Amino acid sequence: MLKRDLYCGEVGENHLGKEVTLCGWVDRWRDHGGVIFIDLRDKTGISQVVFDPADKASSPEIVLQAAELRGEHVVAVKGKVRNRPAGMENAKIATGKIEVLITTLEVLNQAKTLPYPLHDDSPSAGQVDEMLRLKYRYLELRRPALQHNLDIRHRFLKSAREFYWNERFTEVETPILYKSTPEGARDYLVPSRVHPGQFYALPQSPQTLKQLCMIGGMDRYFQVARCFRDEDLRADRQPEFTQIDVEMSFIEEEEICTLHEKLMKKVVKDVLGVEVTTPFPRLSYDDAMNQYGSDKPDLRNSLKLIDLTEQGKKSTFQVFQSAIERGGILKAICFEEKEALTRKDLDTLPQQVAPFGAKGVSWIRIKAPGDWQAPQAKFFSDDLKKEMESKLPIKGPCMIFMVCDTPKVVHNALGHLRLEYGSKLGYQSKEQFNFLWVRDFPLFEYDAREKRLYAAHHPFTAPLGSDTEKFLKETSVEALSKVRARAYDLVLNGFEIGGGSIRIHRPEVQAKMFQALGMSEKEAQARFGFFLEALQYGTPPHGGIALGVDRIAMLLAGTDAIRDVIAFPKTQKASDLMADAPSDVDNAQLLELCLRVALPQPSEK
Ligand code: AMO
Repeated sequence: MLKRDLYCGEVGENHLGKEVTLCGWVDRWRDHGGVIFIDLRDKTGISQVVFDPADKASSPEIVLQAAELRGEHVVAVKGKVRNRPAGMENAKIATGKIEVLITTLEVLNQAKTLPYPLHDDSPSAGQVDEMLRLKYRYLELRRPALQHNLDIRHRFLKSAREFYWNERFTEVETPILYKSTPEGARDYLVPSRVHPGQFYALPQSPQTLKQLCMIGGMDRYFQVARCFRDEDLRADRQPEFTQIDVEMSFIEEEEICTLHEKLMKKVVKDVLGVEVTTPFPRLSYDDAMNQYGSDKPDLRNSLKLIDLTEQGKKSTFQVFQSAIERGGILKAICFEEKEALTRKDLDTLPQQVAPFGAKGVSWIRIKAPGDWQAPQAKFFSDDLKKEMESKLPIKGPCMIFMVCDTPKVVHNALGHLRLEYGSKLGYQSKEQFNFLWVRDFPLFEYDAREKRLYAAHHPFTAPLGSDTEKFLKETSVEALSKVRARAYDLVLNGFEIGGGSIRIHRPEVQAKMFQALGMSEKEAQARFGFFLEALQYGTPPHGGIALGVDRIAMLLAGTDAIRDVIAFPKTQKASDLMADAPSDVDNAQLLELCLRVALPQPSEK
């Protein structure tokens, strides 16, 4: 086989007159009156190679052979680099000024006609079903956009690894066949052949293991860790995903946050050449919810939620009055209408907020001070209008959306509208990187249906210093749900890209945590006895964080879904369409594992 000495995308004017050998795929193929032009593609780009019967250098046999080539055939070619004739240059590609006149051609392999065209500009490109693209993922990987995304991911991980190595972290691998680690999702289980009837759980994260590394004196640990969570999937969630998992001894929140700002600054600079400003803003969970209606606010969008509860009370609008009497709040967002919203747009508002439990949205179009166009304008006196206008950030004609309900419903509904209308108004550019830390999360979440507490982050998170006494003393669900946590999330452009906490390092505090979560002592011992015991042998104060690699790579690549930065992603139903996984297994295999599949009958479902 011809020995490649250059990549296609790297042939340049500095190679003029030189002989080069290239390998790759036939991207496009043209016959111009017997002269064959091929765009030869590899992972670096495209080179135009020419087979010209009029030129002595291309033998007639080669030209005939070249005429037989078709899209995606694999070839090696050797030839001399020359300038393209005047007027034939292609300014769109890096190698657009040169071409290679071929003297030797080796056809390394042929390709069947592909199941769909790879070129975005082909007439049927827009109609290719996403499922078909996932089935033929290896063909998708040939597309420059996906190659670019995976390159961004690779450079991000390289930059991050360098960072941790330089900061004296040790890279440690932890087991995949392990025991359940609670991160709020269902476990993926693996049956054991040698222990019939028993199961490993794939780690939802290496949480207990990294804490055990601290107990083991590792001091600073990191790992690029694969995590497995059986949960409902969305564009930013996959059943298996990657974290940069970190743990540090003898530290507090601020040191972890500062270090990770330094990391993100380096990564964005190394990968995109963009400078981000540090320190990142820090907001408490309460402030984030109150001001932006979200615990992961997108700060590219400057709209804030404004509290109008007092003014709601003074209106004569019954809906506001009764909701506020029941303990509700009234909040608003106010924005300039770049393009006037139509009546139809406004009529769809209730549908937009219904998923958050809101019964509706009241809107006011303010044309000039006191000049309100609003279905409920009559319920507000002139004085009240003035008072409300003074509370809102009004700079000219604007639109106000108001929601009155429980704080949770108001924040979720307006938080959603803030994003919807922010992006419509062009507040959210993909080139901007707005990081922030959200801190002091609640320690627990209350599940009203099951009437019990769940760990808001995970059960190894320490309560805030000032709340520890309350945490140890209190037993009621109500009192415990007010305890705050030493937990923090890193947020970028509205995505939670990392989360961590200072951990409980005293065994009695950890035991109390399991108790607060409704676990009996016996259950706590069965699930976490090894960990509770380890805490008793000299555990340093410690804490850590895990960064979502897929989400960060997605934002660096400027795409909208994490599957665009994962080589072999799964569908929303957690299937791999290419290899057809999950799939049935042989009875013999099941027998070996002492398993029998008992699918429910239709009537039992
Ligand atoms: P947490 O559950 O917050 O914390 O996860 C950390 C980060 O991982 C990313 N992430 C995901 N990415 C893709 N698909 C998913 N299904 C998915 N789930 C989470 C997010 C998230 O911020 N053990 C703790 C960390 C710690 O306390 O140190 C943990 O796993 O970007």
